[in-house]
Amino acid sequence: MALPRVLSVIGAGQMGIGIALVASLRAKIPTVLLYDRDPSQITKGLEFMDKLLAKDVSKGKTSEDDAKAARGRIISITSSSASSSTSNNDEFGWARELGERGSDMVVEAASERLSIKEGIFRALAKNLSKDAVLASNTSSISITKLAGAAVEGLGSTISKANEEGKSCAGRVVGVHFFNPVPVMKLCEVIPGLQTSEVTLERAKAFAVACGKEVSTSKDVPGFVSNALLMPFLNEAIMCLESGTATRDDIDKTLRLGMGHPMGPLQLADFIGLDTCLAIQETLYEGTRDSKYRPSVLLGRMVDAGWLGKKSGVVEFISFA
Ligand code: 3HC
Repeated sequence: MALPRVLSVIGAGQMGIGIALVASLRAKIPTVLLYDRDPSQITKGLEFMDKLLAKDVSKGKTSEDDAKAARGRIISITSSSASSSTSNNDEFGWARELGERGSDMVVEAASERLSIKEGIFRALAKNLSKDAVLASNTSSISITKLAGAAVEGLGSTISKANEEGKSCAGRVVGVHFFNPVPVMKLCEVIPGLQTSEVTLERAKAFAVACGKEVSTSKDVPGFVSNALLMPFLNEAIMCLESGTATRDDIDKTLRLGMGHPMGPLQLADFIGLDTCLAIQETLYEGTRDSKYRPSVLLGRMVDAGWLGKKSGVVEFISFA
């Protein structure tokens, strides 16, 4: 199955940077366009990528030439660079630029918010080639819903029921990588209700080329991975909230008693508390099942702007 020649990664956070890195270094995709609406995020992300590559070189895991070539295949695109080729008021100049540069696959790795992702999928469907695979690295949001947004992006004459709409929705798929992307061995692939066989196979081939094993999940809230992980993390936060044990003892129990590489509170910090909350809200809203209701403490911590490792503090320490 053909791999993309020009891959666009949307979002230069920890997931987007990891995906761009494995796509370039492992899959050797000839061009990887990295877009973020915040240019400082791209600068920060690429600095981190450079550190990872330098570490791989120093450990002999990657040759200096391969690291250099991988980095050279990555081109950053910002709203400002995109608007120079279009009008300054064009909020979708970035999508047009990704299309003009020939993107034949996109992996969207923006914040875990439905409205943000729907906006991106509308813009992508409107501006990218009619053959491009439109993939999302969402942790929990419905792929079927994102495919619906893509069809809306084509304009009012195209509907989910007509041939053009079906073909567009057929190109939307979930490719769910795990953090840290260069280290974790899995990519969960999720077909929406409309995803075509060809798209599914292209998504799997891409994940394998990036060095990942593939598992497939139906398009249910949280898919297999987060439908199982998030109630576990939430239960650990509730243990802390109710005073069952200290932060350290909760994490130690799972690390040393069950052989987990990280305790659940450390893992929630590592994923990002805002991301955990967003996923739990999607699970709860999508199922109306109380087992997915986010803990009050998690909500309060996010309200306080305590987002975990990415905001520079190990937050749960304050509650130990
Ligand atoms: N990015 C890239 N590489 C990283 C990294 C990062 N953020 N953090 C650590 N690494 C690399 C290190 O460089 C090191 O590589 P090396 O073997 O080549 O030297 C390797 O990982 C091991 O790192 P350390 O020796 O520093 O530390 P540990 O042995 O403690 O491992 C860990 C770190 C791999 C993060 C390990 O603790 C772990 O596996 N934790 C669990 C992670 C996990 O469960 N991830 C899934 C989260 S859920 C998710 O992503 C889904 C989403 O939808 C929520």
